[in-house]
Amino acid sequence: MARVGVREWLALAPVMLSGKLARYSDDTGGPLKRFETDFCEKFGLSHALTMCNGTAALISAIAAAGIGPGDEVLVPAYTWIATAAAPLAAGAVPVLVDIDQTLTMDPADIVRKITPRTKAIIPVHMANMVCDMDAIMRIAREHNLLVIEDACQAVGLTYKGKRTGSFGDAAAYSFNQFKNINIGEGGALATNDATLFARARMYHDIGALFRGHLEFIKEPPILGVNFKANQIQGAMLNVQLKKLDPMIAKMRRRYDVMTDILSHSDVLRVGPHNDVGNAAGLHVMFDTEDDAKRFAAEHKRGVYRLYDSSRHVFTNWQPILQKRTAHPGMNPYKWADKSVDYGGDTCTQSLDILKRTCRISLGENYPLMLMAHLAKRMVQQRPAGGQLAYAT
Ligand SMILES: Cc1ncc(COP(=O)(O)O)c(C=O)c1O
Repeated sequence: MARVGVREWLALAPVMLSGKLARYSDDTGGPLKRFETDFCEKFGLSHALTMCNGTAALISAIAAAGIGPGDEVLVPAYTWIATAAAPLAAGAVPVLVDIDQTLTMDPADIVRKITPRTKAIIPVHMANMVCDMDAIMRIAREHNLLVIEDACQAVGLTYKGKRTGSFGDAAAYSFNQFKNINIGEGGALATNDATLFARARMYHDIGALFRGHLEFIKEPPILGVNFKANQIQGAMLNVQLKKLDPMIAKMRRRYDVMTDILSHSDVLRVGPHNDVGNAAGLHVMFDTEDDAKRFAAEHKRGVYRLYDSSRHVFTNWQPILQKRTAHPGMNPYKWADKSVDYGGDTCTQSLDILKRTCRISLGENYPLMLMAHLAKRMVQQRPAGGQLAYAT
């Protein structure tokens, strides 16, 4: 989680004094435009559009891609509920895909879940763990599917030298207060596809063409919603963007130091990563659920068992499992050709992994020595019975 401080505070004053808090066009530049330009340059993308939050960016990407009623979208069984809710907001239905031990979509299960109705995959770079983008892009191209990366929980991370969000057809980022870029609430859509970008711009601003959204490309106007960001958010984003890489570097350093120590344990295993050379998310795995539960109970601060992380686990997504939308007549499950099943056999591999896995915070705001000390305690812990549970 990125800290907000005096630099953000100072950046707000000029925007407030200018009186130009809203963005109605890019004609006059402003903080949002500056952020989007710098973000694209840093992330190797052609177009970025700041929005009110990451959910808005996901929905806009799906709508702009022309995905809707009758379509299926593959989403992981372990993610924030917004990833699965976004296709529904556009009229499509989410189909759940197992994660593997990297905590991201299992490419083998993606293949199993593809049907003639599948239109897109939303891989989620979860908790700063990057997806196997080589495998996912290969599958997507073979089956002619769109890829919309959900990089909300891994803003700025890299996979094989490229930033998350720069592999697929579009990407969504979140800048809420738990994320690598933190402005309280905020998000962005990014893409290299000019048509998708033009449609997303129209969609996020109620289809307001008179605001110059069609400057690059002639697209028939589409109606949308109001997902706009404001210039106050832009001012904070410009400061936060500069803090991003130093913060990731700190997480990387803590990952290396802590995993070096944790790798001496006989009981826990450091979880695999799709690009371990750039890892900035740490999880440890156990043979049994009980071992994972006990570890989480013993190391409360900064440690939790993934199965207990509430709505990130699909079994807690009641509105989706019950297929209930605000109005029964506007229910994408009714528009689907075939019923989607979220019954008892759904994603049991994910549940098994989540029950045996704990996440360890990398404490980027704490001294490295303290994190090393905590890791040492984790491998030396003795349970009540006195036996060495996590041997050195
Ligand atoms: C994986 C994932 N996707 C989407 C979102 C939605 O982002 P926001 O809260 O900015 O709408 C989040 C936010 O927590 C997330 O973690």
